[in-house]
Amino acid sequence: MCGIVGYAGERDCTEVLLNALSKLEYRGYDSAGIAVFEKNQISVEKSKGELKNLREKLENEHKPEGHCGIGHTRWATHGEPSDINSHPHGSKRVSIVHNGIIENYKDIKKFLISKGYTFESETDTETVAKLLDYYYNGDPIDAVVKTLADVRGAYALGILFKDYPDCIYSVRKDSPLIIGVGENENFIASDVPAILQYTRKYYLLEENEIATIKADRVEFCDIHKQQIVKEVQLSNLDMDAAEKGGYEHFMLKEIHEQPTAVKTTIAPRIVNGMPDLSECGLTAESLKNYRKLFIVACGTAMHAGVVGKYVIEKLARTEVTVDIASEFRYRDPIIEKDDLVIVISQSGETADTKAALHLAHDRGAKVLAIVNVKGSSIAREADMVLYTHAGPEISVASTKAFSVQMSVMYLLAFEMAYAKGFISEEECKRLTAELSNIPDLIEKTMECEDKCQYVASKLITAQSLLYIGRGLDYALSMEGSLKLKEISYIHSESYAAGELKHGTISLVEEGMPVIGVATQSDLMEKMVSNIVEVKSRGAFTITVCKEGTEFSEGVMDETIEVPALEDVLMPMLTVIPLQLIAYYTTVLKGLNVDKPRNLAKSVTVE
Ligand code: M6R
Repeated sequence: MCGIVGYAGERDCTEVLLNALSKLEYRGYDSAGIAVFEKNQISVEKSKGELKNLREKLENEHKPEGHCGIGHTRWATHGEPSDINSHPHGSKRVSIVHNGIIENYKDIKKFLISKGYTFESETDTETVAKLLDYYYNGDPIDAVVKTLADVRGAYALGILFKDYPDCIYSVRKDSPLIIGVGENENFIASDVPAILQYTRKYYLLEENEIATIKADRVEFCDIHKQQIVKEVQLSNLDMDAAEKGGYEHFMLKEIHEQPTAVKTTIAPRIVNGMPDLSECGLTAESLKNYRKLFIVACGTAMHAGVVGKYVIEKLARTEVTVDIASEFRYRDPIIEKDDLVIVISQSGETADTKAALHLAHDRGAKVLAIVNVKGSSIAREADMVLYTHAGPEISVASTKAFSVQMSVMYLLAFEMAYAKGFISEEECKRLTAELSNIPDLIEKTMECEDKCQYVASKLITAQSLLYIGRGLDYALSMEGSLKLKEISYIHSESYAAGELKHGTISLVEEGMPVIGVATQSDLMEKMVSNIVEVKSRGAFTITVCKEGTEFSEGVMDETIEVPALEDVLMPMLTVIPLQLIAYYTTVLKGLNVDKPRNLAKSVTVE
């Protein structure tokens, strides 16, 4: 998604902006630009495509020289990716970079046109820039306050006013922004990694706060110009974790980081052999009393929620509804005060998931957030937070975040099942011990990597694939299918295997790959029948199963075995070959694994 950076200090501002933007590239973008104060003018340069295009343009044409400026990587929403639509936008007096979406931009544009303004881009952002110009009468804060009063939507803004050449103004609503604090230099950024090479100290900008950033100081005030005093935060983000560490791609590195990520996430939450989530206020007593759980998330995080639903309903006999956040927020769900809404998000910034959290609060329910990014909006707004400790996930395709999200779902299910009296202490300890062994088993599962690479070589020419499964295996087939299509651009669908006969099986023709996930003992016979059904219609069948599973001869074209474990925990291992198949298919197709087209790492717009 879009990235914002800004700098005020002694260094070469253009270099700092480019370096900082490069650390946000993983978020996905399709153009980039900067605005730097140069000889008391605002010098703007932008370019469609990758950051290296902008760098080349600066080297070949004009590289602004100055010490204060703003930069942006844009992920197109209003208007195609182009030089003109790239940020910064503005006038001779004002220049801005913007993350988010301005909902009423058409009305604002109409108003400004009636006042004689002209527009060059198709963006919503340009209307904010021009509105700031319209209200600007020499006092930047006044202009910001008046502009925000007219604007509806989500925004994080970095603003330059020509008359204040050593200064950046910043404000945000529903889009994150931090202010980095250095020695005689300060920064703005939409994400901590952008500034980590310069400083670990930062302020979190809250809504309705306006920041004035200069090289030697940062000041905050509210919309009534009352000064606000804020506490500096310290980031403990590991810089190395955001590097590839010898792997060819972040995705592969992150797949291999899963044993450590899971261990780090669950170990502190197991006390005397029992799950313990009391750190966030979830006690046995509270877990007993929830009437119903809603799990709300997007994409891969939602699939972790589906695993959670199966496991919680099975073990803790509590009703769980899983919703895609963008559906939940508009379907008028029946939420009672004694329901718990669980939002799952790697980034903690996903717009729809955040809106679901707000809806739950409006209806009086408590919200538990399972989030990876510390201090993210969702983490800050939820009533309770369980952080997953996956470390930074850079690849757009989410892998290790999924495993840690599932691992938290398991701890929750075990603790709830015990609290509600559906499993004994002994059983709870046994399941928890099994979960503790998973990191080693994931390591062992990685032995299927070569086989996955081989299977991938059979998929690269496919037009379309089916992923099928039943129960927990269905949840995993959804995740496998999403992973493959988002990075390899091969169409795939996941289907509950029993549902195939109701329409989808007509798609199966000679050679169509069908990946069956078959790890659940009680569903095995039925699952095998479904695989036989597709095989007899010409499908090329690939089956992910437990080590030692025996199938009749000729049914499976390829099998990928993973270590055998308690059925309920199998998703923690089954996901590994599914991720590796997606990864190697994409590598073999020569595509950009970590930054697939049209996608962003964190989807901060609706
Ligand atoms: O940051 P979040 O976990 O809220 O993100 C949710 C989805 O956007 C994300 O999982 C997406 O589906 C991934 N690209 C999947 O690999």
